[in-house]
Amino acid sequence: MPISRPRRVGTIDERRRLLILRSNAALGTGKALFGAVFFPRVASRFMKSTRRPYEKRKRSKMANNVRPESMERITTPALAEAFISEQLDALRSQIGDQKAILALSGGVDSSVVAALLIKAIGDRLTCVHVNHGLLRKGEPEQVIEVFRNQMKANLVYVDAIDRFLSKLEGVEEPEQKRKIIGAEFIRVFEEEARKLDDVKFLAQGTIYPDIVESGPVKAHHNVGGLPDDLQFELVEPIKFLFKDEVRVVGTALGLPDAMVYRQPFPGPGLGVRCLGAITRDRLEAVRESDAILREEFAKNGLEGKVWQYFTVVPDFKSTGVRDGVRSYDWPVILRAVNTRDAMTATVEDVPFALLQHITARITSEVPGVNRVLYDLTPKPTGTIEWE
Ligand code: XMP
Repeated sequence: MPISRPRRVGTIDERRRLLILRSNAALGTGKALFGAVFFPRVASRFMKSTRRPYEKRKRSKMANNVRPESMERITTPALAEAFISEQLDALRSQIGDQKAILALSGGVDSSVVAALLIKAIGDRLTCVHVNHGLLRKGEPEQVIEVFRNQMKANLVYVDAIDRFLSKLEGVEEPEQKRKIIGAEFIRVFEEEARKLDDVKFLAQGTIYPDIVESGPVKAHHNVGGLPDDLQFELVEPIKFLFKDEVRVVGTALGLPDAMVYRQPFPGPGLGVRCLGAITRDRLEAVRESDAILREEFAKNGLEGKVWQYFTVVPDFKSTGVRDGVRSYDWPVILRAVNTRDAMTATVEDVPFALLQHITARITSEVPGVNRVLYDLTPKPTGTIEWE
């Protein structure tokens, strides 16, 4: 039975056995039957609220990829402080006096890991920012400004645009694209690490939805794409946290709001928004339309209100007309969703006038685009990203 939409299933008498199998709670009144399906991957439903100090958690449970059932949801500064102090101890004991490198994308997750590691091991951490050509407009410049200039971190910037785009040339299948991007990432880190002497640890901003959804839904790059012959021991201090918890921890670590509350961005970046086989011109259309959408959301008070918003460019064209002449160009799809933990999502009710204004800007400013569509699909049934 699909659980993605409300559905009348019958009376208690007709479906008593189904009710017992499928639901946690149900109310039956004569003809109508109401049931609630327990969906264990939705965080807010399965976190227990029993208070147990972090240090009491069993280490054996932390060793695998299942968040301990007793782990309390991190919602307050005090809980964040407890988590931070436990993780600092864990990081120091895992890394000892060795060196680590961190895959720093500049997103919330890797920034929080960077802040934790800078506290734990200081300048024995090297942050590596790889520009794979799939970043948003202005992003590499911002990472350099914040981490190198303001936070004084050891930051290596790698321009790997051509390398990634040539590996991805002609590759259409989304999981294949993810795996290529993930594997190439690791190779780049290995190369950087070799230049650095004695780096044994690779830190990553893996969070819990990456793990939970990696098998059944899609391969998130930091889970599904790692090569079997990985040269490093992994350091993943926030792998049991959901996004909202990462933000509470980030604030407690003293990161600026602009960094902590920025919208999430997937590891494979614009690569999963330039649908099918990536081409440089369509990638530019994604990047430019995304920049316009972000600018308009900021101007119209939606930045910080809407959880995630972006544009997608599919690999097909449609007929249009421009200046009285036939055009044959790509559509841009707008997506704007709200969620607590990315496991389910609802669509933002963007004012129609703003959608029209964004459409006018994108169709006049982005080369190769003649249509704009708004995606009305919640998760489920759609995932947030299109690939
Ligand atoms: P989906 O598309 O699975 O996305 O509903 C849920 C959240 O995860 C982000 N996302 C990813 N993050 N690597 C990442 O690091 C990935 O491959 C990836 N795919 C999706 C997505 O942007 C959303 O916030």
